[in-house]
Amino acid sequence: MKHIYKLIFMALLVNSISAKSLNTGDNVFRAYCWGCHHQTAQAFGPSFKQIANTRTKEQIMTHIGSPKSDYRSLGYKRSVMPSFGTTLSKKELDLIVKFIYSCKDMK
Ligand code: HEC
Repeated sequence: MKHIYKLIFMALLVNSISAKSLNTGDNVFRAYCWGCHHQTAQAFGPSFKQIANTRTKEQIMTHIGSPKSDYRSLGYKRSVMPSFGTTLSKKELDLIVKFIYSCKDMK
C-alpha cells in the first residue's frame, strides 16, 4: 500500500515541475515548438535557422503571439500554427526569440 502513496507523490511532484515557467530557450523550444519546428531542418514549419536569417525580432514576436494577424504579410497563404500569446510568459517569449537567433549560423 505504501508504494501507492509514493507513486501519487511522485506524480504530483512531476506535475508541479512541468507547471513551472520554463527557464531556458531550449526548454521552451522542446515544450512548445519542437513538434513542428526544428533548428536547421524544415519540418512542418520552417526551421529556426531560416526564420533567424530572414526575420526581425518584431516579426518573430508578432507571429508567435498571434500567427493569424501576420501570416499573409510573411508570405503564407494560410496559417495553421497555434497562437502562443497567452501560453508563454514575457520571459519565455524573450528566451525563445533568443533561441531562434542562436540557430542563425548553425550548420
Ligand atoms: C502545430 C505546429 C506548430 C507549432 C507547435 C509551432 N509552430 Fe511555428 N509555425 C508553424 C507553421 C506551419 C508555420 C507557417 C506559418 C503559419 O502556419 O502560421 C509557422 C511559422 C512560424 C514563424 C514564422 C515563420 C516565418 O516565416 O517568419 C515563427 C517565428 C514560428 N513559427 C515560431 C514558433 C515558435 C517559437 C513555436 C513554439 C513556441 C512554434 N512556432 C510552434 C507550425 C507550428
